[in-house]
Amino acid sequence: MSVSSIGYARIESTDLDAWQNFASEILGLMVIRNNHSQDLLRIRMDDHPFRFLVQAGENDRLLACGLDCGSQIQWQANIDVLADAGYSFKKSSAEETINRAVTELAVGQDPSGNTIELYYGRKLTKEPMISATNSQFITRDASSTDLGFGHAVLPTTETEKTLSFFRDLLHMPVCDDLTPPMPEGAPPARVIFMHAENPRQHSLALFNHPNPAGVIHLMVEVSSLDEVGSALDRVKNAGLPLMATLGRHVNDNMCSFYVVAPGGIAIEYGFDGLLVDWDNYTPTVSTIGDLWGHEYNVPS
Ligand SMILES: [Fe+2]
Repeated sequence: MSVSSIGYARIESTDLDAWQNFASEILGLMVIRNNHSQDLLRIRMDDHPFRFLVQAGENDRLLACGLDCGSQIQWQANIDVLADAGYSFKKSSAEETINRAVTELAVGQDPSGNTIELYYGRKLTKEPMISATNSQFITRDASSTDLGFGHAVLPTTETEKTLSFFRDLLHMPVCDDLTPPMPEGAPPARVIFMHAENPRQHSLALFNHPNPAGVIHLMVEVSSLDEVGSALDRVKNAGLPLMATLGRHVNDNMCSFYVVAPGGIAIEYGFDGLLVDWDNYTPTVSTIGDLWGHEYNVPS
């Protein structure tokens, strides 16, 4: 495998104050907003300097996913393999590298136009992570392997090419290929789940439709069911829209709900995600996404 984890996501927001409040007071993440960078939120969940980087802008959308390649050698190998296949990943300036708190960075796009940032050598912080809601986020397993921030589901217009990009070029194996039941008249959906070189059941998934937000959802995981329930209470008290009610997924066993963040990006907030021993795992082909719950209310 050539990708260690999904390390971070970058987001553009038309209302940074609303995102700050949402991240801190609803999700329980730690938000850092420096005086000298009022137009930027660094959102922490652990010892990474940020897991979400939200910048002020004219749109509400996902800007990029950061994939940790684990080492300089693997990072360069990934860039070379992608270049041979016709994908240009441009090495970034020192300023961008410092902004992401990584050693080296290269940026390009997958065949569906999703921006991917390949990096290695994240610089961690010793500053404590303080949650206003006492939430604890799961980003490492028992042996301290980085599980990434959670997972991202990206929209595709070129599904087969995009699948090949991640599976065949970046060597992220498919762990589940889901064709969920759809309401009558809705176009057929397919969700292809892939994992990185860590035990989290999936780190990235592709959904075979475009989305103006540039993402189907981002998932974060907390350490107890009570934290999920308390977060759901906060969502309801704040009157925020749900994209899915509480439920449990089949493939990664995640017990979660989906809340719509300011601007429209869906955030899955879950507990109990499956960690997999990949030597003893057989990829699945599924027709059901949920064991129970997850009544979806997807904005058209
Ligand atoms: Fe998810």
